[in-house]
Parts: sequence; structure tokens; C-alpha cells
Amino acid sequence: MTTPGLSTDQRTRYDRDGFLVIEDFAEPAACDALMARAAELVETFDPDASRSVFSSVRQDQNSDAYFLSSGDRIRFFFEEDAFDGAGRLKQPKTLSLNKIGHALHDLDPVFRAFSRTPRLAALVAGLGLRDPVLLQSMYIFKQPHIGGEVVGHQDATYLYTEPTSVVGLWFALQDAALDNGCLWVIPGGHRGPLRKRFVRTPESGLRHVDLDPTPFPDDAYVPLEARKGTLVVLHGLLPHRSGPNRSDRSRHAYSLHLVDGTCAYPADNWLRRDPAFPARGFGIG
Ligand code: FE2
Repeated sequence: MTTPGLSTDQRTRYDRDGFLVIEDFAEPAACDALMARAAELVETFDPDASRSVFSSVRQDQNSDAYFLSSGDRIRFFFEEDAFDGAGRLKQPKTLSLNKIGHALHDLDPVFRAFSRTPRLAALVAGLGLRDPVLLQSMYIFKQPHIGGEVVGHQDATYLYTEPTSVVGLWFALQDAALDNGCLWVIPGGHRGPLRKRFVRTPESGLRHVDLDPTPFPDDAYVPLEARKGTLVVLHGLLPHRSGPNRSDRSRHAYSLHLVDGTCAYPADNWLRRDPAFPARGFGIG
């Protein structure tokens, strides 16, 4: 039997490993179109208007209002190493940003079209999401030389539902290799518990709440080198990370996170949407 958008073999491997690599999912031209659109968006961004830095290592830095209210906006976040000691950008803004987030898939027509295709809808249905909701999107630059590492984590830490339902769709817009910061995953690691939640505090800050002390076994990570156009599907409990980019080449990627709308979404999740502008499924574009 074939599930829509996903073969029986693919579903079996996803259930076993917690991830799935689908090469050539996106056409090179579609990848180029997203990269061109991201470049246009960056052109509109005034780097003097915000100096918000995104760091997965020091997440307390993300507690600024610009980050906290980015769930239903298009916002720009810098690399930690983008600034000199005097707070000036060391290089052009196009080579200084860590990511754009977190509602490109709703607010930008090019990203919306890429994110809401019948093919993706079928794939997500094949993964078992009954009421898929496109909750978060990120354009990740992983800049040459200064692209920071993303430390090991589970996406359900950041987008928590009861029960767990988040699925990550990670598209390589450029080749991702060992030297420019490809993904690393722990095969089968999604069968372990959720270790932490990342929540808003009553004081409008953010903090991690420890749920389970089981460490991620560092020696169990395997690299997922991915050619341009590859889609990596990540189970919300799968431990994954990416290394810094110390190469001369960027490693642009687009990531989309979906949850099941039939699951409860606690109010203390960091990502919030204006009730008048809720996250939606594939049907409304
Ligand atoms: Fe992640």
C-alpha cells in the first residue's frame, strides 16, 4: 500500500529513524527563487533598526521584544560574530544575518507558494498529521566563516504540543556538507523522551524547563550531507544539530515546522500568533 506522497518504505524508515532524506525534492530553480526572494527581503531590512542576534548557544539573548513578537512577522536576526567590538557590522548585512523568521510562509507570496503545495500536503498527510498547521518558517543563512553552530536539540522543545506532533521540513537551498555546517542527527533518537521545554515566563522572558535528564549521546550523531534540493524530514523528538560554517561557502536552507491542529498548544510556548491571524493549514493560501 502506498500512502499519499510517501511510500510505505519511506514511512517505515521515518518511523524507525525519526528522519527521512528525500533527494531532489525541490527543483534547483525553486531553490534559486527562494534565495533570490530572501535577498530581496534583506535589501528592505534596515540593519540599524534592529540588532537582534540569534544564538542557539546563548538563548537568553533571544528574549528581546523583537524576537518574542516575531511569530507572526518577518524579522531578521544576526549572527553573533557579525559585529565588531564597537557594535558595527564587520561585513555587509547580506553576509551578517543568521536567519529570517518566523512567518515567511504566511506573509511572503514566494515563500507561501513554496510552502503550500499539494505535494507537501500529501507528504505531511503521509506522516500522520491529521490537521497539519504550518506554524513556523525560517530562512537560515549559515554564512561563510561566521555561520554559528546550532546545538543539539529536539524541535518539540520549541514547538510543544500535547501530545507531541511537530514535524520539521528542512530544505537544502545550497549543498550542505561537513565543512559548511550540514545537519547531524541521532538515528532512532526520536524514541527517547523530550528533554526540555522552552517557555515564556510570566515576566515576558524565556527559559528552558528541564523535563528529563537523559543526555543526547554525542557519539551517536551522524552527518546528513545534502545536495541542493534535498528535503530532510525531522520528527519533533529527533535530536539534531548543525556545526558552524568555517568554509568560504554559504549554506542556505529553508525550514518549515508543522504541528497537528488537533493537539493542544500550550499558551506558554514561545511562538505566539495574533488571534486574528492564526497559523493555518495547506488549504488556505
Ligand atoms: Fe531544529
